[in-house]
Amino acid sequence: MSTLTQTASGGFADIDSADDPDFYIRYLLEASKDSEVQEMKRYSLELLRLAPGLDVIDVGAGLGDEVAAAQAVVTPGHAVGIDGSARVIEAARELHPELDLRVGDAQALDFAADSFDRYRSERLFQHLPEPEQAFQEALRVLRPGGRMVIGDPDWETLRLGSEDVELEELLRDRVSESVTNPRLPLRLPTWMISAGMVLEGVYPFRMPFREAQTIERIVDSAAASFRPSELEAVLAEARALEADRALYGSLTLFWVSGVKRS
Ligand SMILES: C[S@@+](CC[C@H](N)C(=O)[O-])C[C@H]1O[C@@H](n2cnc3c(N)ncnc32)[C@H](O)[C@@H]1O
Repeated sequence: MSTLTQTASGGFADIDSADDPDFYIRYLLEASKDSEVQEMKRYSLELLRLAPGLDVIDVGAGLGDEVAAAQAVVTPGHAVGIDGSARVIEAARELHPELDLRVGDAQALDFAADSFDRYRSERLFQHLPEPEQAFQEALRVLRPGGRMVIGDPDWETLRLGSEDVELEELLRDRVSESVTNPRLPLRLPTWMISAGMVLEGVYPFRMPFREAQTIERIVDSAAASFRPSELEAVLAEARALEADRALYGSLTLFWVSGVKRS
C-alpha cells in the first residue's frame, strides 16, 4: 500500500522543486485506487454535508477527485480545487478538464473573505511550515455558518504490530521527527475553539497495512532521522513479521470538523 508513504514524505511541501515531480503524481494516482483511502475520502465528504447550491474549496487538492465529487453534489454551486504545485494542477486538469483547479498557497488564499460554505483539506497541514496561518486563511474564506473539515495523520499512532516495544517507539519517534507537523490533529481543535468556532468532532480513521513494503517506504522517506543500524532493525522486523503473516501495522488519520459561527 502506498498510502502511508504518501503522507510521510516531506517532499509533498514542494513537489515542483523535486528531482522527479512525477513521482508524487504517480503516488497520488496509486493511492486513489486504494480501498482504504477511498473509504477515508468518502467519509470526509459525508462530514462536509454537501448540498446543491453550496460553494466549496478543497485545499491541497492533489489530483482533484474530491473536487469532482463535491461539484457533482453542489451544482449549481461551485467547487474549486487549490494546490501548491503547478505540476499537480496540470495533472489534475488533464484528469478533470471541466473543473476549476488553480495553483495557490493554503497559507495565503487568493479569495475574498466569506467566499465559501465548505472548506476541505486532506493530508496537507502536516507538511505546511505555517499550519496555523493556513487555518486562519480557512476561517477567513469561510462564510459564517460554513463548515471546515481537515484531515491529517497523527504520526504518534504509527504501529508496526511488533512485540518489541522499544522498536515500536523508535519507529514512531524517528518518523515523527521527519514530518513538519507530526501531531497536527491535536492542534486543530484548539485552534478552532480559540477562534470561536463550534467544534463538531474529531473522527479517527485507522488505516491498516499488512505489507513490509509500506514500512520500507515510510522509513525511506524518513531515512535522514534514522541511524543506519536503526533502519536495518526496523526493516528486519517488518520483513520477519510479514514472512510470518503477522504484520498488522496501522496509522490513524483524524478528521476534524468545525463550523464558523454566524
Ligand atoms: C499528500 S498530498 C494530498 C493530496 C490530496 N489532498 C489527497 O489527499 O489525495 C498534499 C498536497 O498538498 C499540496 N501542497 C503542498 N503545500 C501546499 C501549499 N502550501 N498550499 C497548497 N497546497 C500545497 C501538494 O502539492 C500535494 O498535492
